[in-house]
Amino acid sequence: MSEPLGVALVGCGTVGTGVAKILSRHADRLTGRTGGRPIVLRRVIVRDADKPRECEVPPGLIATDHTVATSDPAVHVVVELIGGTTHAKRVVLDAIAAGKHVVTANKALLAAHGTEIFTAARKHGVAVCFEAAVAGGVPIIRTLAESLSANQITAIQGILNGTSNFILTSMAEGGMSYDDALKEAQRLGYAEADPTLDVDGSDAAHKLAVLAQIAFGVTPKPTDIERQGIAGIQAMDIRFADELGYTIKLLAEAWASESGPGPSTVALHVAPVLLRHTDMLAQVRGAYNAILVVGDIVGETLYQGPGAGMMPTASSVVGDLVDLAVGRAQHTFAAAKLWSAPGERPAFQIAPSEKVRSRFYLRLIVKDEPGTLADVCRCLADQEISISSVIQHEAQDGHPEKTVPLVIMTHYSETGQFRTAAAAVGKLTGIVSPPVFFSVDD
Ligand SMILES: NC(=O)c1ccc[n+]([C@@H]2O[C@H](COP(=O)([O-])OP(=O)(O)OC[C@H]3O[C@@H](n4cnc5c(N)ncnc54)[C@H](OP(=O)(O)O)[C@@H]3O)[C@@H](O)[C@H]2O)c1
Repeated sequence: MSEPLGVALVGCGTVGTGVAKILSRHADRLTGRTGGRPIVLRRVIVRDADKPRECEVPPGLIATDHTVATSDPAVHVVVELIGGTTHAKRVVLDAIAAGKHVVTANKALLAAHGTEIFTAARKHGVAVCFEAAVAGGVPIIRTLAESLSANQITAIQGILNGTSNFILTSMAEGGMSYDDALKEAQRLGYAEADPTLDVDGSDAAHKLAVLAQIAFGVTPKPTDIERQGIAGIQAMDIRFADELGYTIKLLAEAWASESGPGPSTVALHVAPVLLRHTDMLAQVRGAYNAILVVGDIVGETLYQGPGAGMMPTASSVVGDLVDLAVGRAQHTFAAAKLWSAPGERPAFQIAPSEKVRSRFYLRLIVKDEPGTLADVCRCLADQEISISSVIQHEAQDGHPEKTVPLVIMTHYSETGQFRTAAAAVGKLTGIVSPPVFFSVDD
């Protein structure tokens, strides 16, 4: 029998518990998948060694100091499942320096410190695997890095945050307000007590940064990705979108474009988008994730599944361990040259989203008096934006008398032009609250 692959789990919370369960319950299956090389848990590092654990970890394996794992010669792989970007970074860099491969589910760590971590890994001849860092149980990293390698990726559209998708689904299907849908997500355990990173688009931006590194060779700083969250979406926006034939989804998007003789560019952003009810991504419900990837050869492909949770995420982590046990992960790591130094890999340049062309949904609360609609139309016309349809209903509950919602759907324009027009609309005296607008994907 070959030498076992020794594993240290650093972090044994939700995901770590799932990994420990799979390693003990499916040991024989995994040995079969590695061609006879067992995958064996050697160390479990946690913050509180006395805390009761859902999985059965022999007491002799548990410690609180990660250097117990990084200094153990029987450990070949350190699995970082702590989260955050400070202690987790120390654990990962110490493991690499000690010659251990690393598996992590930590997208925030990769988005913030990918270059430092991957440079150190190349220097020490070890691999870093991170299938679980984006979309939990959906195998999107391997798909981009391996299966689609004949293609240049031209676009990515992802529902990458299950919490936001659950809230938007509850608003659309249950008629809930944003606040009630968020409370329901918290009650069911889909949202943290502090849901900020989920609902403001930051979590999706971290994941988009990781996907963009693989697909386009760009290394955006987390702040380089424009983001708009879902907190500004009101129940009436969901209703108006539905009336027009659309569903609102929080999408993480990358749009590549050839720019003549110059370098190709890619625009990256996270924002709510109106999708036609019939669009494949519009039909992704609840806490599920999905990613549409367009390749220049293959065309459109779609990947969908559970984006979080103990066992789906652990499934991806253990898949990485199997790849390390048979040596596949080491080959992929060396060939992909991820987070490499400038010039080592042809890269796109990151472009602002200003030039991305789209249609737009614009929702205003306006004073119900003559001339307001004409003023709004003039602001749009000044930016050469034409209108495709307008909805103005009678005043509704919840709005002060003599104000009404006004919804305008535009034809295509550049995002920058539309933003300029929306800013001008917001200054009109007939507009009583800041304009709300989302792009429309037809
Ligand atoms: N949960 C998901 O569905 C999911 C999905 C995709 C990706 N991820 C990512 O997976 C990672 C882990 O998430 P999780 O939900 O499993 O987290 P979690 O349930 O909060 O577990 C964190 C674990 O880390 C341990 N820990 C924290 N600080 C430590 C320290 N200083 N030293 C040693 N151990 C420490 C904790 O120890 P104690 O148990 O003693 O407190 C706990 O076992 C994160 O990067 C997360 O973004 C999670």
